[in-house]
Amino acid sequence: MKQSSLSLLTLLALAVAQPSLAAEAATAPPASSYVHGDFGPPRGDPIKAFLTEPPKVPAPTYRNYPAKVIVELEVIEKELPISEGVTYTFWTFGGTVPGRFIRVRQGDTVEFHLKNNPNNKMPHNIDLHGVTGPGGGAASSFTAPGHESQFTFKALNQGIYVYHCATAPVGMHVGNGMYGLILIEPPEGLAPVDHEYYVMQGDFYTTGKYREKGLQPFDMEKAIDEKPTYVLFNGAEGSLTGDKALTAKTNETVRIFIGNGGPNLVSSFHVIGEIFDRVQQEGGTKIQENVQTTLIPAGGAAIVEFHTEVPGSYVLVDHSIFRAFNKGALAILKVDGPPDKTIYSGKEVDSVYLGDRSAPNLAAVTQATKAAAAGKLTKEDQIKAGQQLFAGTCSVCHQANGAGLPGVFPPLAKSSLIAAEPKRPIDIVLHGLTGKVNVNGQDYNSVMPPMTQLNDDEIANILTFVLNNWGNPGGRVEAEEVAKVRAEAAKPAAPAH
Ligand code: CU
Repeated sequence: MKQSSLSLLTLLALAVAQPSLAAEAATAPPASSYVHGDFGPPRGDPIKAFLTEPPKVPAPTYRNYPAKVIVELEVIEKELPISEGVTYTFWTFGGTVPGRFIRVRQGDTVEFHLKNNPNNKMPHNIDLHGVTGPGGGAASSFTAPGHESQFTFKALNQGIYVYHCATAPVGMHVGNGMYGLILIEPPEGLAPVDHEYYVMQGDFYTTGKYREKGLQPFDMEKAIDEKPTYVLFNGAEGSLTGDKALTAKTNETVRIFIGNGGPNLVSSFHVIGEIFDRVQQEGGTKIQENVQTTLIPAGGAAIVEFHTEVPGSYVLVDHSIFRAFNKGALAILKVDGPPDKTIYSGKEVDSVYLGDRSAPNLAAVTQATKAAAAGKLTKEDQIKAGQQLFAGTCSVCHQANGAGLPGVFPPLAKSSLIAAEPKRPIDIVLHGLTGKVNVNGQDYNSVMPPMTQLNDDEIANILTFVLNNWGNPGGRVEAEEVAKVRAEAAKPAAPAH
């Protein structure tokens, strides 16, 4: 046997994969799903499955008989953006996170080919939750780089199912993006809709902080502690915002196949401003109606459907809400069409609420990062990057024009505080500001929390932007100055007496 050197790994993989299997195999399909299924031999010529990358979904099978379907899926390890200016080495089923969407029909006989790209470094396999059989295919599909495995299964149960890699260490393979969805259509097919989309949540663990630039390695300790750096839809912050947002028109029906790859978190999936007319909870056959938020377990999926009435930007979130606004779990469905004032009339959800989370890109931030790395960062680079960052974090209180809110949040425009001490804002951003402060002759007594989630570059750029706008004195804040102030704070406090 050629792969004898891998036998230990194989054993490890199986040892880890087996316990989850028992649980999966134990769920007997409801009798009703057998009744109208056709589990006879496959008919007609074999069909090569057309797989799609997210957020696309393959067209319905439009078949009324069971067929032999050939699925070919290639594992590709590749560096991809995970956030603006941040990359990560993902392990993927087909080159994307989540992996290619597979669509077959209940009763189909699926001949599955798993290929492991020769440039890959790791062995991989696949456990499809829609498979009845040991390991959901994991045991039969363990594949070394440059090899291909084949196994065949009959799709007994209809539903939407997660697939994932189950090679040891399983958590790391899943955490690197190795999951996707397979839809096993009911024999009669799904009801027609105007749009079908494929969205999958996952949690990611990097050694650097959220949005820390550069190539970020996997952090095993954070993963074990279940403290993700990122919680994302479709594998990257901004993968479904701006010009990549999902789209629909008013008076249309939208179906989202929403999965959760985990590896750790469950998702409280919600669309801000919409109500799910129908949900196939946990991908099962029972329909729940009029749902606001539906729970998607790690390694689980659901089908949600709703009708669009009013134009606007609808925000898909994990309603564990810090994940949406501070870890990236946010996507947009843009609905175009005429307004219907009888259903909704008023201001639209807006940039202040979403901040930079819905921004199509933060290109100026990337440009500044690159320039800084090359030692060519100019004041103009900083101002441009700072302007974009300000819009996300600071404008919520200080307002987009720097005017603040009278009596509540002090102005940054023509600020007497900045004019007196142009570098004091570094300390305020890093350590916050509590208690009374007088700006432009008016007292303010609110609390600004420390913004330690911002890195040195970001703070330097934001403050340079502020210094050079709205009648402030100009000048520049450098990342080194910020680092110095941050380090001062890191010193242990003197013992109190
Ligand atoms: Cu793998």
